[in-house]
Amino acid sequence: MDVEKVREDFPILQRRINGKPLIYFDNAATTQRPIQVLNTIQTFYTLFNANVHRSSHTLGREATELYEQAHENVARFIGAEDEREIVFVRNSTEAINLVAYSLLFGESEGLRLEPGDEVVLTIMEHHSNLVPWQFLRDRGGVVLRFVGLNDDGRLDLEQLQRQVTEKTKLVCCSHVSNVLGVINAVSEIGRIAHEAGALFLVDGAQSVPHMPIDVKELGCDFLAFSGHKMLAPMGIGVLYGRRELLEKMTPFLYGGDMITDVKLEGATWNKLPWKFEAGTANVCGGIALGGAVELKSGQRLEGAVDYLQRIGMEEVRAHERELTEYALAGLRAIPSVRIYGPWNSDERVGVIAFNVIKRGELIDPHIVAGFLNDEGIAVRSGGHCAYPLADRLGVAGTVRISFYIYNTKDEVDRFVEVLGDIVRRRLF
Ligand SMILES: Cc1ncc(COP(=O)(O)O)c(C=O)c1O
Repeated sequence: MDVEKVREDFPILQRRINGKPLIYFDNAATTQRPIQVLNTIQTFYTLFNANVHRSSHTLGREATELYEQAHENVARFIGAEDEREIVFVRNSTEAINLVAYSLLFGESEGLRLEPGDEVVLTIMEHHSNLVPWQFLRDRGGVVLRFVGLNDDGRLDLEQLQRQVTEKTKLVCCSHVSNVLGVINAVSEIGRIAHEAGALFLVDGAQSVPHMPIDVKELGCDFLAFSGHKMLAPMGIGVLYGRRELLEKMTPFLYGGDMITDVKLEGATWNKLPWKFEAGTANVCGGIALGGAVELKSGQRLEGAVDYLQRIGMEEVRAHERELTEYALAGLRAIPSVRIYGPWNSDERVGVIAFNVIKRGELIDPHIVAGFLNDEGIAVRSGGHCAYPLADRLGVAGTVRISFYIYNTKDEVDRFVEVLGDIVRRRLF
């Protein structure tokens, strides 16, 4: 992978912050967008803008074709059977809420959670894969069971095995932790869930952008992910669901486009995936995520998925893995830095959370992040929307760096040098 060539596609990387070249290490929060995706957004609104599934005029038909094609491309990207299994939503949070609400109000056997039914979660979940289930506990009488971590940040799979019983109806787990960067053994967890007759939901917000994904290999029933963490605009995300399940599930949002017929007495639902896409969709966002179309003019409408596939997801993973090993080695060499999560790059992605310890006391991560920002380095600090995990680590928060395809070893060198300097001169 030619990183310098990739960097040319990201105009924002030319910015200077506080007089220094921007080093963008906050990719787990959101990534930047390449010029190809920015052009797709502009081309859509310049040449193709129309509502979809409504008007028979040329623009309406073209926009519909592009939008449907985007579903197909996303399906291929994650190894789904077909586009009916791909529901466009706003983000991972909405994808998980869709499943939660649908199961709360479900009308089909096995697809409704009853009081006393159990949902198994881990304590490392992002709030978006925790708070919706707390809502089901409070409104639906569902019982939540939690799986903890070993001291190295890996999930306690023996505890998981014990928590999953015949009462378990659903197991929910992030594929990759947005704090520890640890890659969870989701195929194994899926096997345990299915053996108990439970459904299995994977939060792929931090994995789908960074490694090859095949939903059949993962063995999941649902997979949630966000476009903005993989080069697409904010406001577009995906729920993958197995077709047999989505067919029987109760819709989450109600209104236009999700129906085939409406009388004053009632309505019938549209076919998949439109049954779950009520109202005017984020058509441009969907195309900027999944578009990959050669236009008659010879111009190419390229979405984020197309861009990533051109690089190759194996290449993306290999690049980030190399950066992660390099950064871990650099960080380890700075005295007073404590790193969280496993050391082995086989088991983690390019998300590294750490703290600086001064005479046994943690330096406030926001102070460290502020010093880094002074030098043009964008990192995140705080609880990273995973407060129960911070509690387990015994900290209020951490500093987090996270990489993507355009980050370089030179940037890691600069970061390590600046952090070393901050630790030596500004904090002690
Ligand atoms: C693991 C994980 N799950 C879910 C989310 C929620 O993503 P979004 O805010 O796009 O819904 C995030 C966001 O950081 C995340 O890291």
